[in-house]
Amino acid sequence: MFSDKTKKYRLADSREAFLHDFPATNELAKNFPFGEVLFVKKEKEIYAFINKCPHQGQKMQGCTIENERVMCPVHNYKFSTETGRGHGLYLDFYPLEENEDGFFLCRTYFSWFGE
Ligand code: FES
Repeated sequence: MFSDKTKKYRLADSREAFLHDFPATNELAKNFPFGEVLFVKKEKEIYAFINKCPHQGQKMQGCTIENERVMCPVHNYKFSTETGRGHGLYLDFYPLEENEDGFFLCRTYFSWFGE
């Protein structure tokens, strides 16, 4: 039976500890089994999305985030930070979650096999 599944990847003991790792650029790239994720800190928010633009596959480092849209630095396509949608394409965003076990990136994916 097929279904959507969510896998959590532990980032740090807490959101505060994770923020401690951020460089002055406010961008942090980390590798995961499914690809590289770019974390961008802007004011009190941390955005997490795949570090591969859906337009031509370029890295998103150097992007800007304004008015709830992230703009790719290569050709300036903009993607909604809410839905990932932009220019008929989608940029994959990942929710972040803090609980008593730590700070996590959550990735939902489709599985043919379910549980
Ligand atoms: S590669 Fe990102 S907009 Fe073209």
